[in-house]
Amino acid sequence: MAWAMTDHDIPSKIFTIDPNNTDRKFDTTKNAWVEKIEPISGYAGEVMSTRVFPKIDFAYIDGWHTYDAVRHDFFATLNLASEKLHILFDDYLESIPADGVKKFTDEFLMKYFDVSLIETNNRKQVEEMTNEAGTTHFMCYLQINRSEANMSIDGLEIERILQEYRKLEKRWKVREKINKKIPLFKKIKFSKFIH
Ligand SMILES: C[S@@+](CC[C@H](N)C(=O)[O-])C[C@H]1O[C@@H](n2cnc3c(N)ncnc32)[C@H](O)[C@@H]1O
Repeated sequence: MAWAMTDHDIPSKIFTIDPNNTDRKFDTTKNAWVEKIEPISGYAGEVMSTRVFPKIDFAYIDGWHTYDAVRHDFFATLNLASEKLHILFDDYLESIPADGVKKFTDEFLMKYFDVSLIETNNRKQVEEMTNEAGTTHFMCYLQINRSEANMSIDGLEIERILQEYRKLEKRWKVREKINKKIPLFKKIKFSKFIH
């Protein structure tokens, strides 16, 4: 995408948000298009509520895959979006434990928007990759008109969802710090902290 933006002289920027971004350093001396990418290290809830971004035209959502996280990433993106927003979700997968993309898409997105499922891996390929039988892998694509979306979705409810999620994220961070200091704790399930 960054490459295409450079070739077509499109003055846009790609922001990537991931707690593990720090170890993905790009060499800007080799490829000019790399300058189009700004990696931000951090969790989506914290970064998207504290950093100032230009209006988002396109979002590729492929972060944490629990229902709460996927729902957060969607609403946080919508809050920062241009009038016309394009969103692509990865990992619409059936029968996996973190099936948040599928659940959120089926239960919420499909009610309000015209969602296209794009098959990226058929059952056989997914079986080979994950040893999971009977699973198909899709990406979900949707186009959103922001003012129409704001009319059909309750803004106060969105704010409540975002705040709840950010509290949860803070607890994950604490848990992660503890796990790093005392690796034995990784094996213990503190139900309150579960990702
Ligand atoms: C399925 S991987 C996809 C990574 C990337 N899209 C790619 O294709 O290389 C999911 C990524 O989400 C990141 N992640 C997990 N929880 C996150 C959060 N709360 N906010 C932002 N990123 C998160 C993980 O560190 C991991 O790199």
